[in-house]
Amino acid sequence: DMSEKATLIIKNISNLITMRGPNRPRKKEEMSEIGLIKNGIIAASKDKIIYVGSGDLPKDIEIAQDAKIINAQGKTVTPGLIDSHTHLVHGGSREYELFKKLEGESYLDILSSGGGIYDTVESTKKASFDELLKKAEKSLNRMLSYGVTTVEAKSGYGLDDFDTELKQLEVIKELNRIHPIDLVPTFLGAHAIPKKYQGNVDKFVDILITEMIPYVAEKNLAKFCDVFCEKGVFSVDQSRKILSAAKEHGLFLKIHADEIEPLGGTELAAELGCVSADHLVGASDEGLKKMAENNVIATLLPTTTFFLQSEKYANARKMIELGIPIALSTDYNPGSSPTENLQLVMTFGAIKLHMNPKEIITSVTINAACALKLEDKIGSLEVGKKADMAIFDVPNIEYLIYHFGVNHTQTVIKNGEVHDI
Ligand code: NIG
Ligand code: FE
Repeated sequence: DMSEKATLIIKNISNLITMRGPNRPRKKEEMSEIGLIKNGIIAASKDKIIYVGSGDLPKDIEIAQDAKIINAQGKTVTPGLIDSHTHLVHGGSREYELFKKLEGESYLDILSSGGGIYDTVESTKKASFDELLKKAEKSLNRMLSYGVTTVEAKSGYGLDDFDTELKQLEVIKELNRIHPIDLVPTFLGAHAIPKKYQGNVDKFVDILITEMIPYVAEKNLAKFCDVFCEKGVFSVDQSRKILSAAKEHGLFLKIHADEIEPLGGTELAAELGCVSADHLVGASDEGLKKMAENNVIATLLPTTTFFLQSEKYANARKMIELGIPIALSTDYNPGSSPTENLQLVMTFGAIKLHMNPKEIITSVTINAACALKLEDKIGSLEVGKKADMAIFDVPNIEYLIYHFGVNHTQTVIKNGEVHDI
């Protein structure tokens, strides 16, 4: 059978991190089981993994004539990294806002005085489809270079301007077609209160529920629906209405919960069965317990906390102790986390969230796959899964996290195709 011949072999892998194990969110001690193989070998047939082991390939695996063979002596190989929370597609940038924040204005102050997200709404509205595509493509190339092979991308810079929301979702769809990285689209129409609906938020919630969400679901433009549940943005009740409607229309749920103020978004995530609740810096103990009971993944975004210049980070240790599975992401966006570097986020996971290296690698592979409902296809290196891998020029994952702010990727394998970095 031609299709079973190995077309790609990575051999002599000093540190092969397989992440083998159950295809479900890993919690507590499971987050430290990384399936390490010394002197590892992996074979793929086109875009599928057909063998994972150590030493040599078994004799019964046929090798295609033109198979590509990579020697990974001294290197570390992991599943392709997964960035499960980004605001990839947007126009413009907000560098001036950083300096306003340094002068003491807060993120929510800037937002309530009409800047912040509203600024990017204007730039995104003005940008053409091609401009948005080109800008996002540049970011995706950067992400690939950091070893990332799957990325979630949200709308949310159109708000009540539905055409702009749809333009973002169409850009995501086109990028998924033309770029090696796989994209997972999320509808985030409820990202800020549109200026037109200030004082009449319920009307906008109504439009989201009766017009936008049904359309997005029917046209298959999103897999997830997300809401920014925050003081001065969408309340818990409004978020409940929006997410419940999305659920009825077959979308999976995410929520920006308790990022800045402890409002109760964490409890809502548990109540509605969100796949993930994201940020959680201000989450209450009660909310976290409910999350654990309802198997909601915590997606933590420490570079956002850093960039907002907050002292307080999400309490990852408590979450792990309670049995909440954790994913780590960049939250790449022009306001609160302008970086595509998931390796940097991993370092923040260690220094600011006190996670150990094994927990960190779990959080950007299998748990991130679960946060995108893709755990059957990606997130670990096992026979039958996608040939998505990263080869890092580091002796171990501890080193990858320790030598920070630079890119350690040597080669990325996406769908069995080799991209030298
Ligand atoms: O996850 N919190 C809301 N959304 C983004 C920020 C978006 C922006 O500032 O443009 C976040 O931090
Ligand atoms: Fe976000």
